[in-house]
Amino acid sequence: MVKFVKRQDYDQMSQYAAELIAAQIWMKPDCLLGLATGSTPLGIYQKLIEKHQAGLLDFSKVRSVNLDEYCGLSPEHDQSYHYYMRENFFKHINIDPKAAHVPDGMAEDMEAEGAAYDALIEQLGGIDLQLLGIGNTGHIGFNEPEDSFPTGTHRVRLAQKTIDANSRFFASADDVPRYAITMGLRSIMNARKILLVANGASKADIVKQAFFGPVTPQVPASVLQLHPDVTVVVDEEAGAQI
Ligand code: GLP
Repeated sequence: MVKFVKRQDYDQMSQYAAELIAAQIWMKPDCLLGLATGSTPLGIYQKLIEKHQAGLLDFSKVRSVNLDEYCGLSPEHDQSYHYYMRENFFKHINIDPKAAHVPDGMAEDMEAEGAAYDALIEQLGGIDLQLLGIGNTGHIGFNEPEDSFPTGTHRVRLAQKTIDANSRFFASADDVPRYAITMGLRSIMNARKILLVANGASKADIVKQAFFGPVTPQVPASVLQLHPDVTVVVDEEAGAQI
């Protein structure tokens, strides 16, 4: 079941989503959070950091698994998702760095890395709450439109639209990695709760397609319609068509 929450603007959207994540941590201090990157969750991370700094939120027992990572970028590269998570979230809170996992984009054998990552999620007891953004192609994590739904953690070739969208973070589109490793849709769908956030007019159409269109691997996020517990938090602009 999908529940929609529309908030006035980015700040309100981030506030609402941060409260849900904080509630999850209060209810289960050693929960396993599935975390996302991209520009959308930055406001949420900021609000969670503020709660932590105000003494209201303790991450000492929290574990986390990130959705994805670019292939070929080392954790020190400033566009890697390792770097993003460290700089925008982990270094400002008291999570145990050993308990905060991001797929290894430098692994030589991506198939083995994918299988090991899925095994890790299982061994950690499964994801309690998975945070997601949504790409312009309808991707979640880096699961791009395909002819069938990809399942486990795997290597993907990025869609040209994704390379173009993400080139804003790199010196040029040529510098954007062509491949990434991402949790598959089964790994995501196995999470007990899912929280998807979207803001801005450019996401309005894909949000509508994902949640009101057919369930199809051409719009990977549409598979979330089959999940029993999804909350979609949008601002006015991203929710304009729903
Ligand atoms: C990226 C990430 C996704 C993210 C999406 C949207 O490529 N792999 O996890 O949700 O694109 O990004 P943004 O929030 O910047 O629009």
